[in-house]
Amino acid sequence: MIFYFSGVGNSAWVARKLATMLNDRVVSIAEAIRTDMVYTPVEGERVGFVFPVYGWEPPKIVMDFVRRMKMPKPAYLYFVCTCGDDTGKTADVFMSALSAKGWKCHASYSILMPDTYVCLPGFDIDDEDELKRKNDNAAARVNFISEELSRKVVMDKHGCFEGAFPKIKTYVLGGLFRKFLMSPKPFHATDACVSCGLCEQRCPVHNIKVEGKPQWGADCTMCLACYHVCPQHAIQYGSRTKNKGQYKGI
Ligand SMILES: Cc1cc2nc3c(=O)[nH]c(=O)nc-3n(C[C@H](O)[C@H](O)[C@H](O)COP(=O)(O)O)c2cc1C
Repeated sequence: MIFYFSGVGNSAWVARKLATMLNDRVVSIAEAIRTDMVYTPVEGERVGFVFPVYGWEPPKIVMDFVRRMKMPKPAYLYFVCTCGDDTGKTADVFMSALSAKGWKCHASYSILMPDTYVCLPGFDIDDEDELKRKNDNAAARVNFISEELSRKVVMDKHGCFEGAFPKIKTYVLGGLFRKFLMSPKPFHATDACVSCGLCEQRCPVHNIKVEGKPQWGADCTMCLACYHVCPQHAIQYGSRTKNKGQYKGI
C-alpha cells in the first residue's frame, strides 16, 4: 500500500511507478484525508509514503494524515520524498511523526526531480538540460528503490540527500518559509484567464472554485499545481511569478 501526496505530479509519478513494479496499490492522501482514514494492511504488506519536500519538510497535509490515520503497526514501512535540490532534515521530521505512532521506518529515500518552486527571486523551473538529467536520474533511482523494496531492505540510517546546513534549512529557514511564504492570498488570475477550469480540476485539495475567474480558499497546500497547469500562464503569485517558467510534468 503506497500513500502519496503530489502537487504537480512528480511524487504521483514515483508512487505509480513503484506500485506497478511492486504490484502494490496506491492511495491518494489528498482524497483519503477526507475519509475515515482506517487501514488494515494484509500480513507482511509493505506500507510506503511518497511525497514532495516543501521548505525542507514533508507537506503539512502529509504530516496531518500520518498523525490522524488509523492503522496497526506496519511490518515493513518506508518513505520516498521527491525534491528539486535537497531535503534538509525532512527524514528526521517525518520519522519522528512515525515514532510518535509507535511505527518504525525500515527504509527511506529521496529522489532529485524537476523543481516546482518558483515564488521567490532566484527560484525558477529547471532548463531543458537539467530537466533531462533529473528525469533520467529519477527513472534510474525508482528502479533502484523498487529493487531494494522488493527485498524489504532495512537501513541503519535514512537514505535522503540532506544537502548543506540541513538543520538551519529545516528548523530556521523552513520555519520562516512556513510562516511567511505559504499563504494562498497572493494567488490571482490575470486578464489572460479564459476560465477553462483546469486549475480547479488539478487542485489536489479542491481549494479552487472557478466562477468567472478562479478563487482560492484557505485550504491551500501551496503545491503550485494551479500555477503550472494554467495553459494561459494566467495564474500568478503576487508579482513574483510574472517572468517565471511553468513545469508541465514528467
Ligand atoms: C512550496 C514548495 C516548497 C518546496 N521546497 C523544496 C525544498 O525545500 N527543497 C527542495 O529540494 N525542493 C523543494 N521544492 C520542490 C519540490 O519538492 C519538487 O519539485 C517535488 O518533486 C515536487 O513534487 P510534486 O510534483 O509531487 O508536487 C518545493 C516545492 C514547492 C511547491
